[in-house]
Amino acid sequence: MVYIRPFNVEQWMDKYETKCTNNIAETCCDSVSLAELISLTSNSTTQSHSETPLILSLSKKRLDYGHIRGSPTLLTNISTLYSTPSNPFPFSQILITPGAIAANFLVFYTLIHPSHHVICIHPTYQQLHSVPASLGASVSLWKLQETETSWNADINELKSLIVPGATKLLVLNNPNNPTGAVLPLEVLMEVKVLAEKYDITVLSDEVYAPIYHSSPDPPPPSFLTLGYKNTIVTGSLSKAYSLAGIRIGWIASNNADIIELLAQARDYNTIAVSQLDDIVAAYALSPTVRRALVKRNIDLCEKNLELLDDFIRKYPKHMNYVKPVSGTTAFVKFLNPRSGKVVDDVRFCEALTRDTGVLFVPGGHCFGVDEGEFKGYVRIGYACSTDTLRFGLMKVGAWIEGGGMDFV
Ligand SMILES: Cc1ncc(COP(=O)(O)O)c(C=O)c1O
Repeated sequence: MVYIRPFNVEQWMDKYETKCTNNIAETCCDSVSLAELISLTSNSTTQSHSETPLILSLSKKRLDYGHIRGSPTLLTNISTLYSTPSNPFPFSQILITPGAIAANFLVFYTLIHPSHHVICIHPTYQQLHSVPASLGASVSLWKLQETETSWNADINELKSLIVPGATKLLVLNNPNNPTGAVLPLEVLMEVKVLAEKYDITVLSDEVYAPIYHSSPDPPPPSFLTLGYKNTIVTGSLSKAYSLAGIRIGWIASNNADIIELLAQARDYNTIAVSQLDDIVAAYALSPTVRRALVKRNIDLCEKNLELLDDFIRKYPKHMNYVKPVSGTTAFVKFLNPRSGKVVDDVRFCEALTRDTGVLFVPGGHCFGVDEGEFKGYVRIGYACSTDTLRFGLMKVGAWIEGGGMDFV
């Protein structure tokens, strides 16, 4: 059996998320029900939900395995995410998976060999470096540098990590979980040049795209559209599209041979995804519904981030952060107001949830790799409903003012 490090963020969520009262730890844009999804674009006063085309297709669907690689409608709708009028993305180069977590796993499982060297952006979702390490690869972390105003990726640092001939995969996560930072187009272009020069495949986990909400700069394109053949992009319905419960994700690549290899491995652990999930996902990604859903979620993130920002600025002795520009999470550093030292993030989050019912994610525990790395950091997921965030932050504020943080 392979040794795999415990997946701390998933274990933390499993332990607390159904017990807390204000979940401000979640990374999905406020999840929707089928009724809410339908209401986004249809006039529900004139039509009962049970008669809408979505519900009718769900109830009539014969529950066989369906299309093994994903239905043509779903594949077409995903392909439009990466297409331009002059350059349609071929849907034969997309594979449907049960969420992005399965998509990422399949990529590593299929492509990584113990002799390989993998470079992964850091901090990020632990899966992206722990799985290649569990498969025997040596993994180097391309660490984002925190300044007063941003989390920067230094391309010279990336150059210094490349081992010519051994580095096979570079893993990006854009927008980034947990910092909410973006790798801008200029950096992506430099990455592309290096990947081409050293023949490195790029895996770009883009599950938080297109949640770009708080930067004056234009959003970066998907890495898939930069014209580099050995690119793999993963995405899903969970985060940007508020539908984590349907467990639909995907892998898209500019290299048809990579997709065929992944499909061969996928035969052994997926066969097909749930046919009901496929129908809901295809509906959510149909152009009109997708536009409405993305607008809802970008508006939500923009509004909620301002609430969070006001809260953080109110307590400068207790916390500070680099304001995120995208995605759904903020990486906030908490300080003990008496000593000025960073808190123990696990003790802090445990005390907070015990005393107030508010759930945050301890950042050092869930994102740090080296001893003490990100100690005192906490990931806040601010894309929950505005009420959950507002009332949760009020509770945290009262707790802080009552001295709750003095002993963590
Ligand atoms: C960067 C990243 N990739 C993948 C996933 C898994 O998402 P999904 O629900 O689509 O499996 C997550 C979940 O938090 C994530 O943050």
